[in-house]
Parts: sequence; structure tokens; C-alpha cells
Amino acid sequence: MKTLNSKPQAGLQGHLTVPGDKSISHRGIMFGAISQGQTVLHHFLTSADCLSTLAAFQQLGVPISRSGDTVTIEGVGLNGLSGSSTPLDMGNSGTTTRLIMGLLAGQTFDSTLVGDASLSKRPMRRVSDPLGAMHAEIETSDGHLPVTVHGRQLTAFNGRLQVASAQVKSALILAALQADGPSTIVEQLPTRDHTERLLNAFGADVQTASDGITITVQPHPTLHGQTMTVPGDMSSAAFFMVAASLVPGSKVTLENVGMNPTRTGLLDILQRMGGQVTVVPRSSKGEPVADLTIETAQLKPIEIGETAIPAVIDELPLVALLAAKADGISTIIGASELRVKETDRISAVVTEFKKLGIAIEERPDGFVIDGRQPWHVTDANLDAHNDHRIGMVLAIASLLVATPLRLAGEESVGISYPNFFADLATLLPKEVGQP
Ligand code: S3P
Repeated sequence: MKTLNSKPQAGLQGHLTVPGDKSISHRGIMFGAISQGQTVLHHFLTSADCLSTLAAFQQLGVPISRSGDTVTIEGVGLNGLSGSSTPLDMGNSGTTTRLIMGLLAGQTFDSTLVGDASLSKRPMRRVSDPLGAMHAEIETSDGHLPVTVHGRQLTAFNGRLQVASAQVKSALILAALQADGPSTIVEQLPTRDHTERLLNAFGADVQTASDGITITVQPHPTLHGQTMTVPGDMSSAAFFMVAASLVPGSKVTLENVGMNPTRTGLLDILQRMGGQVTVVPRSSKGEPVADLTIETAQLKPIEIGETAIPAVIDELPLVALLAAKADGISTIIGASELRVKETDRISAVVTEFKKLGIAIEERPDGFVIDGRQPWHVTDANLDAHNDHRIGMVLAIASLLVATPLRLAGEESVGISYPNFFADLATLLPKEVGQP
């Protein structure tokens, strides 16, 4: 149990560089591993999830070393991985699991994937079914981990995906690199496109049509190792963007934040709600980055539907928090994917926000929140539900409450942001009597 910081006597102030992007850190390891030559990743996210990817590729015979947040990968090429006689441990990481399934499906060896209790409840048929259409042979445990992937020669994919998921799309793209001809993958809605951008930077030919949802992949590219700096993670920056917007008298600058347009949904929503954000783009070799300065603002309510969801999928608990302080009723729908994240995030947000007296109603695919009702704490014992993003959103919510709150499961923040509490502390005012 951790005692959370309660309402500070003044606003949040200062500058912060958030850790590297989780999605890009995972992919940097994977694509470096299947390239020829060396890949160096600076500002790699050294969180538990990304370290699961690092360890899995070491186990597949790829030499990888790490010094602080710099990772060096000696690529073995698309045909150079070697099978592991022991299961690959995916930890808590859905991204590692889904992407590696696509990659391993086209290899010449068999692999078994296992994960922790939360990951073992998450759906895997969304990946094994479309891979099956490429003649992949994947055995799941009733749609879940443990999964055994029997490496096979794959046929090309030509079809539409059933869920709007970058993880599923990326699995298919990685399988398509090994198929017997060009593949065409059609998404439901555009999702984060780090796989497409990064693979092309490593030398692949992955093209997205002007409709934004049709992706063509040419098989058997020769990929070449790259040196790159991972941008700051928008999904981590988002916690401080929301904190600065809501805690009166705040002004916070977040440096070098990734601005890939498939990831900036929270920024767009905050601005539509009347948030005060100044965006100063920085020059970068790879994905776009910017410095963001956020100041406190009175927010208006918002309505969000299905098409806006993929660009803000991981930030929806934070959108719910913004809505809980906006001067009206907000509706977030079309977000049923939240039910199959590290925990059921709709149910977790509703349960925990109700402890703070927030007027929130659960919908099958989202929430309705009345921000005009004053909060009143009915239960000071909050629970992260073993989910990093739930733990962090509750730590931000506690800054809006005078009563000291406690958080169970605070260690879950290490999945994506091990230094979260220390970074937050640097922005908080020094209370009277504190050194
Ligand atoms: C991710 C995609 C998203 C996101 C996850 C990371 C990725 O999942 O929630 O945190 O790196 O591809 P889905 O694609 O399943 O929505």
C-alpha cells in the first residue's frame, strides 16, 4: 500500500523528459533482431514490458546488451533466429506476445509462449485466427496463453481484420514479411503505425494506401540495423498533461514527446475540451517530436465515439479523469477494447472513481461522467487492479483530493514507467517544512 500525494498547496511546476516510447522500444528490439548488422537504441524504455521483449529475443539467440537506457542489438537477419527449448516468458506484455506470434509463425522452429496471470486472461485468437488464414499453425489454450507456435512456410494474407488493433495488424505484417507473396491487410480503423514506419526505416517495403487502412507488405526484405533515439512516450506524458490541466496554478513542460498522429488523441481531446497546451515541434530524424507546455484550464465536457478511440486507447482512463472535472456531462463510447487490456479498464475506472464520489456510469463500451458533481471520498483505499495505467491515473486523481488516499498494487507502474512516482515528485511544490 502506498500513500498517495494529496492536493498540493500550489500547482505543478517544472520541466520533465518522459521515458522512451513503449511501442517503439518493443519494435526497435524486434526489428533490430531480424536485421543485418548492428542496431543501437538510445532512450530505450527500461520498463518490465520492454525488458520482456529484450529477454525473449536473447532467448531466440540474438546478442543484445544494455547500458542504462542504451540497447545494442547484433541483428541475425529474418532467417537467423534460433528456437528455444524452454518457453518464452512474455511477462505482462500483450505487445510482445502478439507481435512475436506473427514473427515466429513463419520460422523453421516451434516456440511456446507463456505469461503472467493477467496476460494469460487476454484474448489471443484475434492474432491466431488471421494468421491461420496464412496457414500458420498456432495452438492456444482455449484462445489464451500458453500458446505454441509451429513454424511454417506462410502464404500471403489478403483480408480485413476484425478488431482495430495495432498489435494484431503488426503481427500480420511480421508474418507477411515471411510469406510466399505480397500481402494486403485491411484495418477496421487506422491504428498506431509505428510498425509500418519503423520497418520501412530498416529497409522493408510496407505501403499504406490513401484510405489509411489498406496496407501492402512485400515479403523477404533485407533489413539493415539502425541507430535511433526513441521519442518520449506520449502515453506517459499524458499523465502529467492531465495533472497540469487539472491542478490549479500548474505549468509544466514535457520535453521530446513523440507526436506520431496516430498517438496524439489525448492532446486533441484536451484541446477540444479547452485545455491550454503549447506545442513546439523539434527537429528529429525519425518520428515527429515536440515540447509540450501545459497550463491549468477550466474544461468543457466532450463526446467521444468509436473512430476517435484508437489514437487515445491507452489514455482513456485519463480522459475519464478530465471529464470528471469538466463543467458538464461527457460521454465516451465505442471503447469496448478497454475491457481486454491489462485489466478490464472500464470496470476498474468505474469502481475506483466511485470511491472518490465521481458521478460515473458504466456502459458496455465506455462511460458517462458528470463533472459538475463535487467529489467526496467514500473509500480512501484505492486499487490499481495490477494495471500500470490504472495505478498512475489514480495517483493523478489523488492530487485533486484533500483526503490522503492509499493505493494497492502501486508496483504495477513498473510495467511502463518505473520512475513515475519520482518524476511526479519533481513537479510537486515543496510543502512547508519539507527539505
Ligand atoms: C500497442 C497497441 C495497443 C495499445 C498497447 C500497445 C502497440 O493495443 O493498447 O498498449 O504497441 O501496438 P491494441 O493494438 O491491441 O489496441
